[in-house]
Amino acid sequence: MSVFSRIFKNKKYGDNSHLNNQLNSNKIIDNFDNKNQNTNNIHLEDVKMNDSKINPEDKNYFKKNRSLAKKVIAIANQKGGVGKSTTAVNLTSYLGYFGYKTLIIDIDPQSNSTSGLGISTDSDKSSIYNVIIGGELLANVTIKTDFLNLDAIPSSIQLAGAEVELVASMKREYKLKEAVDKIKNDYDYIIIDCPPALGLLTINALSAATEVIIPIQCEYYALEGLGQLLHTIKLVKENLNSELEIAGALMTMYDPRIKLAGQVISEVKKYFPEKVYSTIIPRNVRLSEAPSYGKPILSYDPECKGAQAYKSFTKEVIENGTKRTR
Ligand SMILES: Nc1ncnc2c1ncn2[C@@H]1O[C@H](COP(=O)(O)OP(=O)(O)O)[C@@H](O)[C@H]1O
Ligand SMILES: [Mg+2]
Repeated sequence: MSVFSRIFKNKKYGDNSHLNNQLNSNKIIDNFDNKNQNTNNIHLEDVKMNDSKINPEDKNYFKKNRSLAKKVIAIANQKGGVGKSTTAVNLTSYLGYFGYKTLIIDIDPQSNSTSGLGISTDSDKSSIYNVIIGGELLANVTIKTDFLNLDAIPSSIQLAGAEVELVASMKREYKLKEAVDKIKNDYDYIIIDCPPALGLLTINALSAATEVIIPIQCEYYALEGLGQLLHTIKLVKENLNSELEIAGALMTMYDPRIKLAGQVISEVKKYFPEKVYSTIIPRNVRLSEAPSYGKPILSYDPECKGAQAYKSFTKEVIENGTKRTR
């Protein structure tokens, strides 16, 4: 029995030649950057200071798709290291780049999306902790980032105790929703980066959200734990937030050298019929370097394959799934 069939028990795999065709229909942007390519480049200074250097085509894109906005999206998967924070940082910075007023809320005590945007994670500063536990207004904790149209609610390590502190409070599942409802109209998109657990913080995010995006790493154990995640989403929908929908599953860290990656994508498509984004995020070293400089990829290296992929994914999110594979 192959490794793969052991993982997905009781499933038989026959001829896999169709997989290559299926993969070709996806927007797989390989992970090898071609240094000689000639794409429209945005330099950090431009992104920071004004929007005069935005590719004119991209400005028109915003005009055409302006009406498709107004969403609160949680980025959730209880597995760690699947690309939630990378997706939150790069999706929000591209939404801002395209002209949408965007807010990123970091509710992971590890604060990766806070630091990934170059924001300090000092525990003496106000953060989402003060909102969830102290009842502070989100507007009082909001930080303007260095990136176009992007505000952020930072996290801090203090939040690690919040799960326990929340247990005894009234309406403990709705702390974030109550805060988000007050500022909802100030933004086109609010994106929430969840911690790697299905505890009260993630439940708060799912209760506040209209949609959830599930990043899934293209690896052997991709489907492990997905049943539990979907069950939690279902319970939240039935009991706490009837609005909640799964926007889609995003395949991340695709490496064409790993043959099994294609099979994983195919399995995930069976699991989420019509809900897998056609953009597949490649494993790309520039994406993993950017956070240590406190920059999203559009600022760190807008030409790399990882940047192209996140830009393409952002357009799919804006267009609300019209390009999803069948
Ligand atoms: N497409 C990618 N290519 C290469 N490295 C990636 C990619 N996506 C994420 N990473 C790296 O993998 C690690 C885990 O990603 P992260 O977004 O923090 O996951 P999560 O938030 O789900 O725990 C980080 O070090 C990140 O920089
Ligand atoms: Mg994270």
